[in-house]
Amino acid sequence: MKICKTHHFGPVTGYELGFSPIGRPLMTVFFYHVDGLIIDTGQRHMRQAVFDILDRHRPDRILLTHHHEDHSGNAGAVRSRYEVDVMGHSLTAQKLAGPFKIRAYQHLVWGKSDPAPVLPAAEIRTRSGRLIPIHTPGHSRDHTVYLNTDQGWLFSGDLYLGDRIKYFLADENIHDQIVSLKTILDHDFDALFCCHHPSVKNGKARLEKKLAFLQDFCGAVHHLRQKGMAESDIIRQLDRHQDRLVKWVTLGNACFANMVRSALKN
Ligand SMILES: [Fe+2]
Repeated sequence: MKICKTHHFGPVTGYELGFSPIGRPLMTVFFYHVDGLIIDTGQRHMRQAVFDILDRHRPDRILLTHHHEDHSGNAGAVRSRYEVDVMGHSLTAQKLAGPFKIRAYQHLVWGKSDPAPVLPAAEIRTRSGRLIPIHTPGHSRDHTVYLNTDQGWLFSGDLYLGDRIKYFLADENIHDQIVSLKTILDHDFDALFCCHHPSVKNGKARLEKKLAFLQDFCGAVHHLRQKGMAESDIIRQLDRHQDRLVKWVTLGNACFANMVRSALKN
């Protein structure tokens, strides 16, 4: 089943894409279009829908928030079809320099990203104002958000995702996420163009809620550790069993236990 929905947020348009080999997609992903820019490119399994959209709104350039295949899945193809540059963090460039490995479920749900040359993201000016890249590691090492300082728009990739997080990928770093959230909260913005749950107003409050949740979570994990509990006992004590379907689909690559493990690393 395929989903392709258009969301208008003033001059910014969000395209929500979902794909599932069986039944409704568990998750959708947004890419954004404004002033000839596209921010992220959706998953490979939705490539024809992305082409159909971009044939109507030809892009001038592509900005990537990070290398994950639901964001970079069409970067190489869009670059070739419209002869535009792809820009992002140097670590995104390293990842997309060649094919990178993804797991079986990622092939099934999103599809594989093609290699693409990625140029360094730098401050740019568009009709809407000044857009600056800000490195925000944690969700992935290369994660970068793009802030329009004149409009107060934050294209936040996967920095937000939700107020309360139920699972982490195996390589996510909760401490880096906390630092990144604090960094971004020092800036002014209101619209949060998240790639999964956008919030066109009060975006800053959303990120503050997520920061408080992650800080409280780390506090709870360390409190139990100081009482002498082992990692496995902490996981058992704090687990609310809200990750089961995702844990099952991803064969454990995304699960609640990864959040605890990340909090214990320091
Ligand atoms: Fe991601």
